[in-house]
Amino acid sequence: MPPSGLTALILGAGAGGGVPQWNCACRVCQLVRSGDARVCASTQVGVAFSADETHWLLVGASPDLRQQILKTPQLHPREGPRDSPIFATALISADVDGIAGLLVLREQQRLSVFAPGPVLEVLRRNAVFDVLNPAMVDRIHVAPLHAVDCGYGLTLTLLPMPGKVPLYLEDRAAEQPQAAPTYAALVQANGHRVIVAPACAEISDTVRSHLRLADVVFFDGTLFTDDEMITAGVGTKTGRRMGHVPVSGVGGSLEGLADLPARKIFLHINNTNPLLLNGSPERRQAEEAGFEVAFDGMEVRL
Ligand code: MLT
Ligand code: MN
Ligand code: ZN
Repeated sequence: MPPSGLTALILGAGAGGGVPQWNCACRVCQLVRSGDARVCASTQVGVAFSADETHWLLVGASPDLRQQILKTPQLHPREGPRDSPIFATALISADVDGIAGLLVLREQQRLSVFAPGPVLEVLRRNAVFDVLNPAMVDRIHVAPLHAVDCGYGLTLTLLPMPGKVPLYLEDRAAEQPQAAPTYAALVQANGHRVIVAPACAEISDTVRSHLRLADVVFFDGTLFTDDEMITAGVGTKTGRRMGHVPVSGVGGSLEGLADLPARKIFLHINNTNPLLLNGSPERRQAEEAGFEVAFDGMEVRL
């Protein structure tokens, strides 16, 4: 008998750029490079789901997907000459760290790509994604807030999140106000419910009510403080400006999700974020508030 539950494997817990980021000399990136035991390297965000431990749905397709699959035995081919336990990918944003990994999934493999209209539109406009043979890769439109049966016992619902268009579309946002908003994925199987929400600009009442749908919530842990990238000297934008509510401060996620009954796990953690440093005061503050910090290879079984 196959196990009946819902398994989430964290393929990548990092935000865009990963940890360490190729060109970053911030404190955490340098600690990882020096082999400091308090921090671990993270690849860019991705979660794999299964209801039977045999067939896997990916949520997100980051540029690190090839390396993530190599590191995850559950995702290796089983019988030749061509095979993959990955039967589908759900795309929840058109950010580079949300879609670039699709290019890794070429090579004539049958696959379904579930995505909202604006993300499908980005794929359609960028001819490089046609490298995924249309005869083998179905692009399936998912309307927000409608549960879709993905197969193998897994149901997907896209929950709209406050956010922004991808960086590379910002100049064109006026022409395409809905160019590619951002979503959370609610994945359900066997009565268990998990949400993956790597980008959320504000914890509104609607967001809170969406997050109440799940037993486990992987939530936007990009920055600990809103001005963290400015303070670290690696950027000019606040977290909110980038579509990511900070963990701390007024309106931050520690405050805004304090009474959420779900198991709460930060994901999409930027390399500047002191949450990545085991034992840091910021990490302790989050843990004492009942939040966990995701890491590559983390498994959650329901
Ligand atoms: C984000 O999460 O804000 C984006 O992934 C940033 C980026 O495009 O690198
Ligand atoms: Mn990102
Ligand atoms: Zn860094």
